[in-house]
Amino acid sequence: MEIRKVGVLGCGLMGAGIAQTAATAGFDTVVREVSEEALKKGLAGIEKSLAKFAEKGTITGEQQTEIRGRLSSTTDFEPLADCDIIIEAIIENLEVKRETFKRLDELCKPETIFASNTSSLSITEMMTSTSSDRQQRFIGLHFFNPVPLMKLVEVVRTILTSDEAYEAGVEFGSRLGKTPVRAGDKTGFIVNRLLVPYMLDAIRALEEGVGSITDIDNAMRLGCGYPMGPFTLGDFVGLDTTYYIAEIMFNEFREKRFAPPPLLKRMVLAGLYGRKSGRGFYDYTADPKNPVPMNLV
Ligand SMILES: NC(=O)c1ccc[n+]([C@@H]2O[C@H](COP(=O)([O-])OP(=O)(O)OC[C@H]3O[C@@H](n4cnc5c(N)ncnc54)[C@H](O)[C@@H]3O)[C@@H](O)[C@H]2O)c1
Repeated sequence: MEIRKVGVLGCGLMGAGIAQTAATAGFDTVVREVSEEALKKGLAGIEKSLAKFAEKGTITGEQQTEIRGRLSSTTDFEPLADCDIIIEAIIENLEVKRETFKRLDELCKPETIFASNTSSLSITEMMTSTSSDRQQRFIGLHFFNPVPLMKLVEVVRTILTSDEAYEAGVEFGSRLGKTPVRAGDKTGFIVNRLLVPYMLDAIRALEEGVGSITDIDNAMRLGCGYPMGPFTLGDFVGLDTTYYIAEIMFNEFREKRFAPPPLLKRMVLAGLYGRKSGRGFYDYTADPKNPVPMNLV
């Protein structure tokens, strides 16, 4: 099962990164968006990122041209029909993802592997929108932002995924220059399963007065060697996204460690989403490079 042509659904933050990475790794890549406007925005992001790599000398000018040549874009479904693998990175909405996979299932060749980059939804629930043959060729490929730089991909299998399709997914991850890790279809996979309770615990520690925002961040950064503390990380990821994932994980496992603490809920209700809204655990509005901790408890 050799993968030559790659389809990517969505040219947003993750889709653009995945398409760029696949084209850079030598695959013919076609990326689909819902509108020309969205495509234009996503492709401009790819251009900018490639220019940065060329500036740094990571790729040559010639390679930059070759990568561009391998990448095509569309707002139709038809150009995806002969892809060997299709990676979905559209909005995190189960019904929209199921509808999209159903449509592609009817269009694509029988060998095409379907993969989703979802962070929190069940691969199994998406898979059941496709025919029984396709269900054996359905996997998760969970990349990390920014995709061209982050070296990990979680390769997720359901109880119906065939060994052949799964191993093809693992090998594809390696060919993209990532380290593939194998994970089962349990909400959160490996990284979020461990990371989300840690971030929620940091918020509980803040609520309980164990330490201040700055002290908890410094403690984990300097005491554990983490590149950033839990609150800086939460603001970076987005507190609305963290809350949403925690809710889904709590609904799946019904364990307290996944339950979003009241402070997180209040912050999301108040529009404190982190960096993207200007305020979260820190206030970025005056000087984004030197944010000041918020007075929250
Ligand atoms: N942002 C992250 O850090 C991150 C990390 C890992 C996984 N993910 C997952 O990746 C997926 C995409 O997230 P994102 O952050 O790139 O979102 P985004 O909002 O930046 O991009 C989503 C894109 O999908 C497009 N889209 C919507 N419906 C579509 C359709 N039917 N066909 C094609 N395109 C469609 C939108 O126009 C938009 O450009 C989600 O499932 C998310 O859970 C996100």
